[in-house]
Amino acid sequence: MNPSHTWNLVDQYITEHLIPHDPILEQVLSNNREAELPAQDVSASQGKLLQLFIRMKNAKRILEIGTLGGYSTIWMASALPADGSLVTIEHNPHHAKVAQSNISLAQLENLVEFRIGNALEQLAQLDAEQTEPFDLIFIDADKPNNPGYLKWALRFSRPGTVIIGDNVIRNGEIINENSVDPSVNGVKEFYTLLSQESRISATAIQTVGSKGYDGFVIGIVN
Ligand code: DHB
Ligand code: MG
Repeated sequence: MNPSHTWNLVDQYITEHLIPHDPILEQVLSNNREAELPAQDVSASQGKLLQLFIRMKNAKRILEIGTLGGYSTIWMASALPADGSLVTIEHNPHHAKVAQSNISLAQLENLVEFRIGNALEQLAQLDAEQTEPFDLIFIDADKPNNPGYLKWALRFSRPGTVIIGDNVIRNGEIINENSVDPSVNGVKEFYTLLSQESRISATAIQTVGSKGYDGFVIGIVN
């Protein structure tokens, strides 16, 4: 059998067994397709993984860089306590509009703060506002800017903050020394920074499933 076909079927098997049907999350994915957002939402099993991290960490303050249609936002925000908060940054106004409507559908408006605009600018703005440190930061925006996002993530961290980066394997392209893909090169620079940075202890997990062969960086701030 074609391996990616098996990965998909196994992802479906995992989802059927471990992830109860959630009509709102399913509606959100369908809204994102209807609105023609790029099909780059995390998978259900990955959304659940993010949610489990939030529960394991008892995270109360989350920063998400790259909202897209808010599917991962909902997975994470729905694990927050009533006094928790999630700040999510989205550059594309159309994506942000779809995401805001999805967050309303999930009745999570009280927990989610949207910051619409260029993420590096929004992060500088958060800094100017002297934002409190976050408990968990999920980096899932344009990959060429990953190095900049990591620098800001460290700035908004304290010991124990968990930093997660999506799409850090990219079908194995990260080991292609001749890649001219700015996303691949952004991710490679992200690894280089992580390797040089004493403030964070990190690893990466390779994942296969409905999103192909990719993975997460997972780190904790020392
Ligand atoms: C891409 C970006 C993502 O965040 C993702 O999860 C999958 C693919 C991309 O830019 O190709
Ligand atoms: Mg992603």
